[in-house]
Amino acid sequence: MTRNLTLSALGGLFVGTAVLAFPSMAQAQGQLTVYCSVQEEWCRPMVEAFEKDTGIKVSMTRKSSGETYAQIKAEASNPKGDVWWGGTGDPHMQAAEEGLTEEYKSPNMANLQDWAVKQWSQTKGRTIGIYSGALGFAYNTKLIASKGIPEPKCWADLLDPKLKDEVQVADPNSSGTSYTMLATLVQLMGEDKAFDYMKKLHKNINQYTKSGAAPAKATSLGETTVGIAFLHDHVTMIVEGAPMKAVAPCEGTGYEIGSMSIIKGAKNLENAKKWYDWALTPKAQAMAAAARSYQVPSNKDTPIPPQSPKMADIKLIDFDFAKYGSSAERKRLLAKWDAEVKNQPK
Ligand code: G6P
Repeated sequence: MTRNLTLSALGGLFVGTAVLAFPSMAQAQGQLTVYCSVQEEWCRPMVEAFEKDTGIKVSMTRKSSGETYAQIKAEASNPKGDVWWGGTGDPHMQAAEEGLTEEYKSPNMANLQDWAVKQWSQTKGRTIGIYSGALGFAYNTKLIASKGIPEPKCWADLLDPKLKDEVQVADPNSSGTSYTMLATLVQLMGEDKAFDYMKKLHKNINQYTKSGAAPAKATSLGETTVGIAFLHDHVTMIVEGAPMKAVAPCEGTGYEIGSMSIIKGAKNLENAKKWYDWALTPKAQAMAAAARSYQVPSNKDTPIPPQSPKMADIKLIDFDFAKYGSSAERKRLLAKWDAEVKNQPK
């Protein structure tokens, strides 16, 4: 602790000295405001590495996907952010449709997976895929055994009355993870059956969290028996030693295309483009695995971490990103979820 403090104090001294010695250089590199919607553990090393590589000073805020979208919309007349990096694709697509983000064609697009480029072409160049990952749930193996609850394998199993108040998922308004679940169930079951399912599931929900990965953490800590989140978020906990089992639901499941967009009216537009180009490189993308974030990266030259859930082994639905990322559909489904699910008595 003391050593860290001493080192960072010394670091501060050197930075101060460098700025004094080269004031014009420090100014020339400028600044960048990044809105980050992945896990804080991955946002921070990305920012540090970018600052080191470019000399640009980054100010970063971490918020969930839906929350960041709402912030960008609220700030539209006086944008404060420059680039929005990470989070599920749906609110990035909604922001693109609503003209809240800028078109950009990066020279580093050539080597991306088709699904990453499709995200870009479907939004006329306003957002791009940076990673992908499938949705699922996990259970705490100790709790499930001690409570005598059968191990869930399917979405249907989460309706077991024995799981009353034992399941946790985020609120789809703030969380892209949870909106991915909503859109997945609608595509998997049809809208009526999906809402019927979510109303029944509501009885088993102990908390709708703000952030999508929070239920994975809560499952690892034994605060909930089951958590619904992206499978890679469960894997992070399992790798850290949590008594958890991750499940790709038997009926099939949806997935995300984690995305990146430049905010319209960005005050530091050139630096936003530098971040965008840099974030598509294998070197930058490899930092995910180092931060224990196990999504599938969008650059074909970035190694897929061995811990990443194997997409080929998961029964994936043919997710209609354009439809469920459209402004009208997203607003309609969220309003319906608020009215018919969240506010129901338990
Ligand atoms: C976690 C996952 C990401 C995902 C993000 C969405 O950070 O690791 O893959 O994009 O959650 O966050 P949200 O809080 O909006 O559900």
